[in-house]
Amino acid sequence: MPLLSVRNLSHTYSNGYKALHNISFDVEAGEFLVIIGLSGSGKSTLLRCLNRLIEPTEGQIILNGTDVTHISDASLRRHRASIGMIFQHFNLIPRHTVLSNVLYGTLGVTPTAGSIVGKFTQEQRARAMSALEVVGIPDKAQNRADALSGGQQQRVAIARALMQQPDLLLADEPVASLDPATSHSVMSYLEKINKDMGTTVICNLHFLSLVRQYASRVIALKGGHLVFNGQPHDITDEWFTTIYGEDAVEVEIR
Ligand SMILES: Nc1ncnc2c1ncn2[C@@H]1O[C@H](COP(=O)(O)OP(=O)(O)OP(=O)(O)O)[C@@H](O)[C@H]1O
Ligand SMILES: [Mg+2]
Repeated sequence: MPLLSVRNLSHTYSNGYKALHNISFDVEAGEFLVIIGLSGSGKSTLLRCLNRLIEPTEGQIILNGTDVTHISDASLRRHRASIGMIFQHFNLIPRHTVLSNVLYGTLGVTPTAGSIVGKFTQEQRARAMSALEVVGIPDKAQNRADALSGGQQQRVAIARALMQQPDLLLADEPVASLDPATSHSVMSYLEKINKDMGTTVICNLHFLSLVRQYASRVIALKGGHLVFNGQPHDITDEWFTTIYGEDAVEVEIR
C-alpha cells in the first residue's frame, strides 16, 4: 500500500479557473518526490490539496489507506498534523526566538504574544533542541528568528516541521529565496531527514540540477496536467522541452 495515493484529482478555483486536471500518482513511504513545472503549472495548488489547505474539486487523496478528501474537524486536524509543511518564505514569527518558533510546531499549539517557552514541558523543549541539532543550529536557539540568515531560517522551519513527527513533509519551493550554496545546504538537511528518519518528502523545485541530485522520483505538471512521472535521469532533452517549452534553456545551480 502506498503512503499517499492521489486519484483523478482536479481543482477549479472560485473564479472558474481549472488549475489541476485529473491528476493521479502514488508515493511510497520513504520517497523523495519532486514536482516540477513552469510557473503557474499548478505545483503549489497540488501540494496544498494534499493537506487540504485547498479543497479538491474532484478526485481522492488517500493517506495511509484512509480517504482524507472529505474529512473535517478532528479528523482533518489529525490529517494536517501528520503532514509537515515548509514554505519559500519560511513563515517564522520574526520577533520570537528560534526555540519558540520550533516549539510552535508542537501539535495543537497556536503561537501567542510574548515568550511562551516556559509553557512547554521539559520534554517538548528537549525535542525542540534535538530538532535544532538535526538541522545543525542548536547554538541559535536563543536568537531572534529575524536575526538569522535565510538559509538558517529555513532550517528553523524544517526543525519546526519535525516537531510534528510528520509522516509526510511537503516543501513548496523551499530554496527559491536562497543562493546556490545555501540551497544545497537546505536540500541536504531535507535529504538527511528523508534518509535517516525515513520521512517521505514531496518538494516543488525549479532547478533541474537540484532535482537530479536530490529526487528519488519526479512528476511534472504542465498547464495543470501531469505530463511526466519517472526517474530524474529519465528527463531527457526532449522531456525538458515538453515540460518547459521550446524556448526554455536549462540553467544550472551548482
Ligand atoms: N486563488 C486563485 N484563484 C484563481 N486562480 C488561481 C488562484 N491561485 C492560483 N491560481 C492559478 O492557478 C494556476 C496554478 O497556480 P500555482 O500557484 O499552483 O502554480 P505553481 O506551479 O505553484 O507556480 P509557481 O512556480 O509560480 O509557484 C495559475 O495559473 C494561477 O494563476
Ligand atoms: Mg507555487
